[in-house]
Amino acid sequence: MARLVLLSETAGDFSGAFPNAVRVEMKSFPDGESYIRIPENCKGKEVLLIHRCYPSPNDNLVKLFLMLDAIRSQSPSSLRAFVPYLPYARMDKSVKEGEAVSAETICRMLKSLGCAELITLDCHFIKKGAGIHEWAGLRIRNISAADALLAQLRKKAPGALVISPDQGASYMAKGGKSMKKVRGEYGEMGGATYRHVAKFEADFDVKGKDVIIIDDMVSTGSTMIKAVKVLKDGGAKRVFCAATHGLFLNNALEKLVEAGAEETICANSIVSPAARIDAAALLREAIG
Ligand code: R5P
Repeated sequence: MARLVLLSETAGDFSGAFPNAVRVEMKSFPDGESYIRIPENCKGKEVLLIHRCYPSPNDNLVKLFLMLDAIRSQSPSSLRAFVPYLPYARMDKSVKEGEAVSAETICRMLKSLGCAELITLDCHFIKKGAGIHEWAGLRIRNISAADALLAQLRKKAPGALVISPDQGASYMAKGGKSMKKVRGEYGEMGGATYRHVAKFEADFDVKGKDVIIIDDMVSTGSTMIKAVKVLKDGGAKRVFCAATHGLFLNNALEKLVEAGAEETICANSIVSPAARIDAAALLREAIG
């Protein structure tokens, strides 16, 4: 069966891993709405659509929905989407009555638009690690960047102790330790509700040791920055940071350096100066 790989404008730099990929035509109408055209007929083909949904997650999700629907309408034999960083994955439950559980909404939308499998990296709400999972009816193939990130940092710190800043990312620490992250009260950040990290609890000793902290993402950096400080205060020799997705909001990358991080690396699921791991290579490894 012929495979057709389609690349959106946000995934253009993945073309090296998929030299025969076809680019989706994308334009903006004068009012800001998106024009999408799939330039090759998808009928009977195994279609893999590759699209980054960050930055501008709302815009890029709409583009994803339009592309999927346009492909589905041509009756491909199968339709998968590779979205290396899935936006809204952290909104996977409601805390206050009436809140949208956005992660489920997005998954239901993707499923209803014909996406038979979403392929993504270290999806926040999947705490079991790499493999095939189901969420809100959507089949999700979760690929983990943990091995690649750790291999990269172990070149510099071979004997480093690997830890995750919370239980949620413990699978990424590959048998290492996990700290307990205690969140504070709900507050405001950039007009949105946000729970700051109040403290970390750890029942292990880092004195004189090199440590690698690994997590699924650095967003505002609250988690990673505080974790670095706690470990440095605990006497760690060098602290390295690894995260699959580097959003690095509010100058988080610079703040990590100020906090004492030796180096911070992530995957290119999001374009950033700290990207060292190629998401397209991980995808190729996972699906051939
Ligand atoms: C939380 O459970 C996640 O694994 C990350 O630790 C968190 O989302 C990172 O966000 P921030 O950088 O804003 O602390």
